[in-house]
Amino acid sequence: MPDPLAIRPEIRDLKAYAHAVDLEAVKQRYGLERVIKLASNENPLGPPPLAQEAVRAEARDMSRYPDPLNTGIRQAVSEHTGVAPERIAVGNGSDDLIDLLVRVKARPGVDQVLTLDPCFDLYVIQSRIAGVQCCQVPLSRDLRFDFTALVDAADENTVLVYLTSPMNPTGQAALPQELAEVARALPQAVVIIDEAYIDFAHPRQDFDLIPLLDELPNLGVLRTFSKAWGLAGVRLGYAILPEVLADAVRRTQIPFNVNRVAASAGVAALQDLGHYQATLELTISQRGHVARELERLGCRPMESQTNFILFQPPRPAREVFDGLLERGVLIRAMDSAGLPDRLRVSIGLEEENRLFLDALSDVLSS
Ligand SMILES: Cc1ncc(COP(=O)(O)O)c(C=O)c1O
Repeated sequence: MPDPLAIRPEIRDLKAYAHAVDLEAVKQRYGLERVIKLASNENPLGPPPLAQEAVRAEARDMSRYPDPLNTGIRQAVSEHTGVAPERIAVGNGSDDLIDLLVRVKARPGVDQVLTLDPCFDLYVIQSRIAGVQCCQVPLSRDLRFDFTALVDAADENTVLVYLTSPMNPTGQAALPQELAEVARALPQAVVIIDEAYIDFAHPRQDFDLIPLLDELPNLGVLRTFSKAWGLAGVRLGYAILPEVLADAVRRTQIPFNVNRVAASAGVAALQDLGHYQATLELTISQRGHVARELERLGCRPMESQTNFILFQPPRPAREVFDGLLERGVLIRAMDSAGLPDRLRVSIGLEEENRLFLDALSDVLSS
């Protein structure tokens, strides 16, 4: 008799996404009043004030379904990026779009998704859930992009390539020309550049991919409102895609999966340029400061174009992570990314960064 509770093998053996540790659990375990969270690359200045106002106003209409076509938010993204709304798809976080693109592009058991190792876990997890093979190509030994190895690993079944630039977890940003070369070298695939951290790349204009999208019919970009735009909790992301693909994604997605609160928050966030600029200024200046202090403490930070820094502490990373946690500072261990000797810290407010550095200094000297 078939087992009525049998689960597909891909799901039975699936390892769930490694979330940051739960803050309440940490407080209870160590008897702490306050835990500083520098683990998920969120905006330390909080949500944009204009988005908060928009959410309050939208609350009045919460009994109504949202716009099924997401016209308002797609129009706002179109004005912000200069790309026609027909080429824009929005999702319930960019996570949602990562999942949708796999389902739209890759045939289970036949096609292949290609990405790097380490990479943002969801490219691998959503491929597996879809029954699609995901091939990961290691970064170089010094954790830099190796696009030659990436291109060499592709075959005729490679239909979708996920690259993150600036990269999570290393912080490195590729130049637009390098990414264009990958797209040219893989004409059989759609190459999606996940730009979750692009706002923090400096100088920003040196990393602008959008002008290249018109030249390259197989290149697309994924962005999120969760980082520089301060809306991680409402879940909103967008993709700029070739028109046929944007249309396919829109037709595939579950109706109304971008809720009206998220959509209005997103429209308002794009207008709140004061908050956005303040976020970039704080992050970019504190990023330099934290990197210098990490070096002074004997750590090896990687140069970062994001709102986090990957570093190698002079003591076993797990010990340092636990020592920080006991002192009320939560950062990210990198075991699940295959980098057990590294840690990743998000850039926070000046005071949070100081408390992190003080706690780290204490751990390293104890
Ligand atoms: C590279 C990368 N892509 C996508 C995401 C997910 O973004 P969202 O919150 O829009 O789902 C993250 C979140 O940490 C990320 O690091």
